[in-house]
Amino acid sequence: MRTSFLISLVLFLALSVCNGGQLKKQFYADTCPLAEEIVTSITWKRVATNSSLPAKFLRMHFHDCFVRGCDASILLDSTTNNTAEKEAVPNLSLGGFDVIDEIKTQLEKTCPGVVSCADILALVTRDSVSYQFKKSMWEVQTGRRDGALSRASEASANIPSPSFNFSSLKQSFANKSLTVHDLVVLSGGHSIGVGHCNFFSNRLYNYTGKGDADPSLNATYAAFLSTECRSLSDNTTTVEVDPGSSGSFDNHYFKILKLHQGLFQSDAALLTDKGASNVVDELQMNSDKFFTEFGRSIKRMGAIEVLTGSQGEIRKKCNVAVNVEKNRSLHRFWEKAFEVEWCSLDKVTKRILRNSDYGKE
Ligand SMILES: *[C@@H]1O[C@H](CO)[C@@H](O)[C@H](O)[C@H]1NC(C)=O
Ligand SMILES: *[C@@H]1O[C@H](CO)[C@@H](O)[C@H](O)[C@H]1NC(C)=O
Ligand SMILES: *[C@@H]1O[C@H](CO)[C@@H](O)[C@H](O)[C@H]1NC(C)=O
Ligand SMILES: *[C@@H]1O[C@H](CO)[C@@H](O)[C@H](O)[C@H]1NC(C)=O
Ligand SMILES: *[C@@H]1O[C@H](CO)[C@@H](O)[C@H](O)[C@H]1NC(C)=O
Ligand SMILES: *[C@@H]1O[C@H](CO)[C@@H](O)[C@H](O)[C@H]1NC(C)=O
Ligand SMILES: *[C@@H]1O[C@H](CO)[C@@H](O)[C@H](O)[C@H]1NC(C)=O
Ligand SMILES: *[C@@H]1O[C@H](CO)[C@@H](O)[C@H](O)[C@H]1NC(C)=O
Ligand SMILES: *[C@@H]1O[C@H](CO)[C@@H](O)[C@H](O)[C@H]1NC(C)=O
Repeated sequence: MRTSFLISLVLFLALSVCNGGQLKKQFYADTCPLAEEIVTSITWKRVATNSSLPAKFLRMHFHDCFVRGCDASILLDSTTNNTAEKEAVPNLSLGGFDVIDEIKTQLEKTCPGVVSCADILALVTRDSVSYQFKKSMWEVQTGRRDGALSRASEASANIPSPSFNFSSLKQSFANKSLTVHDLVVLSGGHSIGVGHCNFFSNRLYNYTGKGDADPSLNATYAAFLSTECRSLSDNTTTVEVDPGSSGSFDNHYFKILKLHQGLFQSDAALLTDKGASNVVDELQMNSDKFFTEFGRSIKRMGAIEVLTGSQGEIRKKCNVAVNVEKNRSLHRFWEKAFEVEWCSLDKVTKRILRNSDYGKE
């Protein structure tokens, strides 16, 4: 009885198309119209009193997207059985989790269970960098859903290291369908923030293992760095990544690259390839072009392997996953029963099926 009722429901209501499959502008326009305003206002309030946040969020968003796609896996805490990405060594001195939590708490009050942590991270990154300009610097498409898994080992395998040469950087980006152009443009994120000595001091003290310096590093700049970073093992001191301009998001980074003052080997590497170094030349000459291109590249980065539509989950708290596995197997059960795609069912049918006797544990 119940089943035949369900079958006819499926037959009559199945034709509505699944919501999503792709990111889009203003995904929350109907379901949570205030979402983006809430993110912006909390982010700007926090950045106003803590100027280190924009660089933190750029790094966090980048790290998130390069490991399992932009699914907020970077925000998950470790559990008894699993060491999460955010504890990977080196964990890139992440920070700003408290800001994400404040935003998520407010969004859950305003529209519970609607806005994903992955979207919050993408928006917060844009808004924190944009604070300096008091306007949005790029468009963020939304509609991401959150993943349930976060593994420290995957972070070390996917995040390009600051000691990478050009071919490894290129491969690492290509693995995420990003081009050399994206690589150079996104390296402009090093326009803000600081770097820890231990990630580059081999360039000062032991470049080839003979107690030598990296000849591609500007000697004047190297002398200055040596006064800051006193030994190979100094892992507490930090220096500006964009000397003279690291508080300001701009194309100055590309100018210092040309002076051989890129801090990390991965910065200096951009001059070792003809194509990449041509892009450096263009960007250092044209600030507007840098802003436009950065917006385009970070949009592409923000779309890496995203979960959309009925994939993934919307977390209640950004540091704790809801187990989506149970849901998936439930969906598969009904898909088999009716030979339809769960995705193609309408909301009412889904709710009925989910709450039916078969959906109970
Ligand atoms: C951790 O693993 C053990 C043994 O496999 C299992 O019994 C337990 O439920 C797991 N805990 C969590 C939080 O997943
Ligand atoms: C970074 O890793 C260390 C241990 O390797 C851990 O103590 C620390 O909490 C981690 N930082 C973050 C932000 O998770
Ligand atoms: C700014 O935020 C960073 C990252 O969360 C944090 O480590 C630092 O303590 C904050 N600084 C101030 C002054 O609140
Ligand atoms: C770049 O680094 C990789 C990995 O360390 C190495 O195999 C490769 O030979 C290097 N390429 C160049 C051109 O130095
Ligand atoms: C690129 O992906 C391949 C295949 O997954 C992997 O073996 C390789 O280590 C990756 N390279 C980099 C630089 O991330
Ligand atoms: C410099 O590198 C070489 C080769 O890796 C190593 O044997 C030596 O101990 C290093 N020197 C210092 C001061 O760490
Ligand atoms: C810094 O180095 C010291 C000594 O080598 C080590 O005990 C400590 O864990 C390191 N800290 C970080 C954040 O890597
Ligand atoms: C090194 O930096 C100085 C400025 O500190 C600059 O005048 C000089 O041209 C740079 N040298 C090279 C080789 O780029
Ligand atoms: C299962 O999926 C629905 C949306 O398809 C969601 O509302 C619900 O919270 C999910 N439940 C669990 C336990 O994942």
